[in-house]
Amino acid sequence: MTPWRISRHFLGSTASITEARRFVTAFLRDWPVVQTAELIVSELATNAVRHSASGRFGGRFLVTIHADRGHLWLGVLDEGGADQPRLCASRVGLEGGRGLLIVSALATDWGIWGDHHGRTVWATLGTACGSRS
Ligand SMILES: Nc1ncnc2c1ncn2[C@@H]1O[C@H](COP(=O)(O)OP(=O)(O)OP(=O)(O)O)[C@@H](O)[C@H]1O
Ligand SMILES: [Mg+2]
Repeated sequence: MTPWRISRHFLGSTASITEARRFVTAFLRDWPVVQTAELIVSELATNAVRHSASGRFGGRFLVTIHADRGHLWLGVLDEGGADQPRLCASRVGLEGGRGLLIVSALATDWGIWGDHHGRTVWATLGTACGSRS
């Protein structure tokens, strides 16, 4: 498989979360992990809009999909800010704090780069048969 990479900017609005999901679907339509990839990007895009400076007027976030030798790398770059991504302990019965827990459970690996100027939250997925889809 020839490695490929695609990135697209989205406005930091809630409407863009659906667009980001569609972007993933369009490029990963034939991949067994398309639904998992959509869910991960949806959670990360939601966080960018809700918790980072990307959600301010005129803010944007960047979604990247990188496919290489049976592995997918998904990243959402935001515009930073005071808050930072953190894994919340499971809080049964309480609202919120689940997005990154879901990402960490679905991804083969995940992490955070950057600082208050801009952060990338990324996740990897195996694409071979038998991978989570
Ligand atoms: N891109 C981000 N920039 C800054 N802070 C973030 C970012 N993503 C997550 N966070 C912080 O990490 C916390 C945990 O994120 P997580 O997605 O797990 O939960 P949530 O967004 O609060 O709720 P839920 O995703 O369940 O609706 C958030 O409450 C927020 O404080
Ligand atoms: Mg969230």
